[in-house]
Amino acid sequence: MKRERALKGVVLVGGTGSRLYPITTVTNKHLLPVYDRPMVYYPLQALVNAGVEEAMLVTGGNNAGDFLRLLGDGRKFGFSRLHYAYQERAGGIAQALGLAETFAGGDDILVILGDNIIESNIRQAAAEFAAQENGAKLILKEVPNPSAYGVAELRNGRITGIEEKPDDPRSNLAVIGIYFYSSQVFDVIKTLEPSGRGELEITDVNNHFIRAGTASYNVLDGYWADCGESIDSYLEAVNLVARKGANDRAPCPQG
Ligand code: G1P
Repeated sequence: MKRERALKGVVLVGGTGSRLYPITTVTNKHLLPVYDRPMVYYPLQALVNAGVEEAMLVTGGNNAGDFLRLLGDGRKFGFSRLHYAYQERAGGIAQALGLAETFAGGDDILVILGDNIIESNIRQAAAEFAAQENGAKLILKEVPNPSAYGVAELRNGRITGIEEKPDDPRSNLAVIGIYFYSSQVFDVIKTLEPSGRGELEITDVNNHFIRAGTASYNVLDGYWADCGESIDSYLEAVNLVARKGANDRAPCPQG
């Protein structure tokens, strides 16, 4: 039986935020407001709702100190402890995740991109992943504009591949920025080569687990908002949170 291993959280809040220039010229995207809270509050709450007790925040650039002042030791969110890592250069999601290896310490991890906001929760996915021997679990969501994302192809209820931002998408199922991994993921990251955009791609990590036959998926209930995709997606996220709340309306901390 699996599961002497804990599920630890990793929230990734690096990158340059270039798709939101000029509002990200002097600050990190994840510190921008989404309705009445800083953007990063929502993914942190999603981790807590999924049952994560200990998490690491990975950031880079000029605003690292702002995250420490804003989030502190993480107890106001319900974490037993929040850890921090610093990414020296923007080298992609997979490169940022690699910095969490020592923190993970052989436990399973739940990774969330700091600009992803969900209406519901991922508790069911977490429970299913706890029963999965190893590998990965991906979260998918139908979207009207799949070309802006990693797009999953499904066959007979299995995920057979992901294409990153394809011109000609094979489905309308985006791979959202929420990923469950066993600690094998850190060995996979060490085998990656930079992509055309010079980054270590999380899609390459996910395709590795798909080829190995150890990737499962769930389709998300409720809305998914990716605040960083464009200025319009950011505006839509603000409106969705204002109208419908987020994270099952679990109250994020005020302070
Ligand atoms: C990243 C991933 C992409 C995923 C998206 C979700 O894209 O590469 O597969 O669909 O996050 O937010 P990026 O935001 O780095 O362009």
